[in-house]
Amino acid sequence: MANLSTPRGLFLHELGDILFVEQKLAGEVLPTLIEEVQGDDFRKELARHLKQTRGHVTNVKKVFDLFDEEPEAEKCLGFEGLKKEHDELLSEVDDSLIDLVDAGAATRTEHYEIAAYSGLIEMARGLGQPEAVSLLEENLKEEKEALHAVESVAKSLRDELKSGAS
Ligand SMILES: [Fe+2]
Ligand SMILES: [Fe+2]
Repeated sequence: MANLSTPRGLFLHELGDILFVEQKLAGEVLPTLIEEVQGDDFRKELARHLKQTRGHVTNVKKVFDLFDEEPEAEKCLGFEGLKKEHDELLSEVDDSLIDLVDAGAATRTEHYEIAAYSGLIEMARGLGQPEAVSLLEENLKEEKEALHAVESVAKSLRDELKSGAS
């Protein structure tokens, strides 16, 4: 028999998944990106999102509390895949392309987080936990802002390519 047999159990599993992602981003991935990107605006945006991401970790842990559970991170294979793809691509590209690679990876990551939080919010609502819904919505709102910011960084980098090519 499957060991995840209730919606609550599935919710907590997926919450552990996003905890893994947020902890990796706050502790390792965003600090590395901040060091490697060349553009000042991009670096500032990443630094701003690093601060927000530390708050996301706190909020996710609070949601575990609301469910009377110890926060437990679950290794998120989807995120590990995104990270691996980024790391491999980065090792192959010229330094002049780092920001484009990182903007693409950041955009994919924000989409991933947005999908995860949207699902968690619906589940928390279904489980009758309005306080958890509010905390998860705070995170979702900041992921959407971060997505718009990295999309605009990516767009200006691609626009520069166009003007360089003409
Ligand atoms: Fe986040
Ligand atoms: Fe994010």
